Amino acid sequence: MCGIFGIVTTNEQRLGPILTEAGYRLSYRGYDSVGIATIHADGNIDLRKDAGKVSQVAEKYNFNEMVGTRGILQLRWATFGEPSLVNSQPHLDSEGLMVGAHNGNVVNNVELRKQFMAEGMTVRSTNDGESCVHAVERYIRKGLSILEAIRHAYDDLEGDYAFVIGLAKDDKIYAFKKGSGLVVGIGNDFACISSDLPSILPLTRNIIFMNDGEIVELSAKSARLFRVIDGKPIDRPIEEVEDTMEAAQKGGFAHFMLKEINEQPKVAEELIHLWENSTDVEQVLAAMQQARSIYFIGCGTSYNACVAGTVYFNRLAGRSVFPVAAPQFTAQYNNAIGPEDVGIFVSQSGETKDVLNAVEIARKRGMRIFSLVNVVGSTLTKLSENWLPLTCGYEISVPATKTFTNQLVGFLYLAYRMGNIPTSPLLQIPQWMNEAIQSSQDQIPHILPHIKDWNDLYCLGYGLTYPIALEGALKLKEITYAHCEGMLSTEFKHGPLAAVTKGYPVIFTTTTADIPVIISGINEVTCRGGCAIAIGPKDERLDTNANYVISISQPTPEIASILSVIPLQLLSYHMSLSRGYDPDFPRNLSKTLTVD
Ligand code: G6P
Repeated sequence: MCGIFGIVTTNEQRLGPILTEAGYRLSYRGYDSVGIATIHADGNIDLRKDAGKVSQVAEKYNFNEMVGTRGILQLRWATFGEPSLVNSQPHLDSEGLMVGAHNGNVVNNVELRKQFMAEGMTVRSTNDGESCVHAVERYIRKGLSILEAIRHAYDDLEGDYAFVIGLAKDDKIYAFKKGSGLVVGIGNDFACISSDLPSILPLTRNIIFMNDGEIVELSAKSARLFRVIDGKPIDRPIEEVEDTMEAAQKGGFAHFMLKEINEQPKVAEELIHLWENSTDVEQVLAAMQQARSIYFIGCGTSYNACVAGTVYFNRLAGRSVFPVAAPQFTAQYNNAIGPEDVGIFVSQSGETKDVLNAVEIARKRGMRIFSLVNVVGSTLTKLSENWLPLTCGYEISVPATKTFTNQLVGFLYLAYRMGNIPTSPLLQIPQWMNEAIQSSQDQIPHILPHIKDWNDLYCLGYGLTYPIALEGALKLKEITYAHCEGMLSTEFKHGPLAAVTKGYPVIFTTTTADIPVIISGINEVTCRGGCAIAIGPKDERLDTNANYVISISQPTPEIASILSVIPLQLLSYHMSLSRGYDPDFPRNLSKTLTVD
């Protein structure tokens, strides 16, 4: 994923702050490098860019002072060419007469670069965004108008991408779409274009959605659309987006929660890709390796991920870690920590007050502070010595789903690296997640009638799946309003077993190695008339002992544990619907709690 944003205004003004803000909003799309080009009213191009995150590059190159009537911003998630200044976008053409940037991939980039060089153009980088600029330049050189040049370039550039370009001697910017998202916004004295809608909504709600095979010509007062195929104008009215950004992002799913559950394979893939090449990961790992003690600290779902992380670190890296619910951090550890220790603070929002309070205590004691955060630019990222992104994009639904699984994937990645284990098996996680979604969808209709009317149930796990049981119970509580307790399966017999009556639902999660102990737990429930639902491997022992089974692949025990939360997310979702609730916005809850 990369991100692009372009703007045209009536008068020359400081565009740097507007473009930088857009950069922060698009940051979830990539932060290998960032760049801004502004075009002054007299046609001078001011191009500033480098490898690094928005905050770093913006400060280093003083984006704030950049002026112009037109501007283009790009954030890179590196695919073609290493993250470096020269490969950063936007790019100039050979003569510095136009500037452009893209997101997506141009798959014939290597061949095109050779052609451009053979044609005498100046190719400065190995990045495919530059190829987009030269593809237009090629036809401008032949005397074609900009619109005609773009139409031809579109045919030359293979792949899925969106591209924005501005000519020095002009007062417009142009963009075209071929596979990647592109949205136009129209304001009173400006027009803008972006990879996503939410980055535009703070500026205007007057929107034009572009389709593949379309070119847009943006002036400060208008947006004219053309068909690539024959250059004919397209008459598309401006839509006023009434709703908040949520409505614009449901993407055909009935709820954000369902959309976000289905996004898990994609965002897991993105995290692994991004972390694989990240110097930030190296820094965090080095700090953890040197640490006297390591603490994983979070709240709610993020705390459950911390518990899972400690299991991965023990199993794969032989390293003990303390998982802590952030508000307990002071009570349990404030007199024990110091500069030799490392805290990994985990938060989707990066704004949870309980977490920030714990950071404050840790800072006072000189502890080294790192974080796993989804919202780029949030307070937690600013308070951290370094932070790693969860790369999930917007998570709108109050119950966290994709951010939880990416917290687990992130911890697992770090544990693999710390244990010097090749990370290649992780690349298969998206495929196994898709299978888990499918098998959940197949089985849940059979299970739902047996649990949906119960206001009290349990979700049990053991070892690797203990934190999964905690998270499954939290999902059920949040959106079904039933009481569901998550606990260690072996603790159930020490008291809660008393609750079991005929049909009483108890959900068990297990990996292959723990089947024997889980079978005992299942039988303690079923012999008393309870209903045991098992989430685990395809295994005859589960099939014969449990009432219902949702089968999950077991590529490795740790990966299996991540997969086993998916049926619990979907079960919660469908149970919530069956009770007539809105799973996205459960009563009494807030996605981000900035209060004590
Ligand atoms: C709130 C949300 C939970 C979330 C918790 C921690 O309670 O409703 O879903 O797990 O905050 O949020 P964080 O943003 O710090 O991960």
